[in-house]
Amino acid sequence: MSERSRTLADDPFGGRHPTSHERLAGLPWDASYHGNPAPWDIGRPQSAVVRIASAGRFSGAVLDAGCGTGENALHLASLGLSVLGVDVAETALAIAREKASARGINIEFAAVDAFKLEPLGRMFQTVLDCGLFHTFAADERPRYAASLGSVTEHNGTLYVLCFSDIDPDIGPHPITQEELRVAFNPSNGWNVAAIKPDRLQTRFHENGAPAWFATIRRI
Ligand SMILES: C[S@@+](CC[C@H](N)C(=O)[O-])C[C@H]1O[C@@H](n2cnc3c(N)ncnc32)[C@H](O)[C@@H]1O
Repeated sequence: MSERSRTLADDPFGGRHPTSHERLAGLPWDASYHGNPAPWDIGRPQSAVVRIASAGRFSGAVLDAGCGTGENALHLASLGLSVLGVDVAETALAIAREKASARGINIEFAAVDAFKLEPLGRMFQTVLDCGLFHTFAADERPRYAASLGSVTEHNGTLYVLCFSDIDPDIGPHPITQEELRVAFNPSNGWNVAAIKPDRLQTRFHENGAPAWFATIRRI
């Protein structure tokens, strides 16, 4: 057995502190990408992302935090934006890289923990979180907001598309507007500019699930 596979067998989280979602599931995120596509892995970019991008609201270097198999990041890169997609699931990243190569799209994907973005040593003008924030429990959000803050340019924009509490039964965490405002507030260097009702498409919702689309500025 190689050193790397021995390490992964001993620690499926590869030395990373597992997230609350992983602790609850008892499995690393990577397991979601083995077998049938995960519920969120719809094989196309989210309509909200396409709409916002076509309105020209992505600019500069773009970070997609928790990019999964990359459809949103690939869409943005196909528009000519410089995009880095990061995720902790190596299998998802491998699929994303295969798509990029098959489609001839110039893009970067990297295995990076969204709680530890600062070591990237890079800054981004626009950051996308599509379906990541709502996987974090309340006690994880301050660390996540700080990590995002460490790589977002002053006056840069963070877009969060997350399940909303309009459907309180939707998981992992149906998010209230207040929870977004608590996680991203002037005391930690963020200003929520807008939170609008939207839809988050999944493999199981014909017209998408109720979502919030939040526009948040780095101050
Ligand atoms: C619900 S999926 C959404 C994936 C993708 N954004 C999409 O819309 O298809 C959440 C993604 O976040 C990734 N993820 C979870 N915790 C993470 C972390 N701490 N750092 C980076 N990625 C993480 C998971 O592996 C998964 O791919």
